[in-house]
Amino acid sequence: MILKTSRTAEYAEITVDYEKCNMCKLCLKVCKSSLYEENGKILVDQSKMFGCIGCGQCEAVCPLECIFVNGRTLSQDDFIPLPAKEQRANMEQLYSLLLSRRSTREFKNREVEQEVIDEILKAASTAPMGIPPSDVCVLVVKGKDKVREFAFDFVDTLQKMKWMFSSFMLKLWRLFMSKEEHEMMKNFIVPLMDFFPEKKEIGEDWVLYDAPLVMYFYGTLYADPVDPVIPATYAMITAQSLGLGTCMIGTIGPFIKKGANKFKEKYGIPQKHVPGVAVIFGYPVYKYKKAIKRTFANVKYY
Ligand SMILES: Cc1cc2nc3c(=O)[nH]c(=O)nc-3n(C[C@H](O)[C@H](O)[C@H](O)COP(=O)(O)O)c2cc1C
Repeated sequence: MILKTSRTAEYAEITVDYEKCNMCKLCLKVCKSSLYEENGKILVDQSKMFGCIGCGQCEAVCPLECIFVNGRTLSQDDFIPLPAKEQRANMEQLYSLLLSRRSTREFKNREVEQEVIDEILKAASTAPMGIPPSDVCVLVVKGKDKVREFAFDFVDTLQKMKWMFSSFMLKLWRLFMSKEEHEMMKNFIVPLMDFFPEKKEIGEDWVLYDAPLVMYFYGTLYADPVDPVIPATYAMITAQSLGLGTCMIGTIGPFIKKGANKFKEKYGIPQKHVPGVAVIFGYPVYKYKKAIKRTFANVKYY
């Protein structure tokens, strides 16, 4: 059965160069769908599982370059040389990059260059996705003035939703929510409904902190809810490696899932989408002197 997504409604096509193939079968080992072996040959059966979804693993693993995947947005140009081992960050390097990241909310009055934005998008697009090709979309709002406009439009949108958080409505919400969700709504979301507009009134942007760049990662209706979060995280880490400060902004997504029609129309966000997460970027004003070790709520082994 073809796995239709927003970008494709076809199987990817697999071709094998049987002259070159030595039946090492690595492609068969990594394929979890359409490949099989018969009479000493690698064959394709698109009716097996979901057929070829274009994950590209068979071509990427083949040592003899004799199996090719095309379709579902993949073409031969997408298969590029693997970076040499010496070029890859090791644990120590990666861990120091991760440790050096802090959520940044104070930015220098300097725009983020287009080349830097391109690098961030290039790296973030390598993130895994539920089903290829990625159903994540990115809205890039570039420039301090435009980011402020975006933030203030969001605050205006929030204000129109305020009735949904009146004390009567809060009591009603409790019927559809867990105690913990309701607690978070009452103690975290409701105060923000007043806080953001009050700050806007005095010309302060407390949603996106006057950053010079914001990216909103969201999904098409085919996306898994976690799909947008993974490239957003990759984007943060990449930006860190490029000397930028970042902060993930979770306040926007949930509020524009439903309603917020004018806001979404203005910024080209589809009315129906899987809400994601925003990330702000910019050159940080402050340098941190210490890293912070963090812990998970719980780690259990079984
Ligand atoms: C899903 C998510 C949503 C977040 N949303 C916001 C936000 O709306 N505003 C904000 O100032 N920080 C936001 N943050 C940043 C956190 O507050 C921050 O990561 C946390 O305080 C820990 O600080 P650190 O990132 O410097 O370790 C968010 C972080 C995550 C992971």
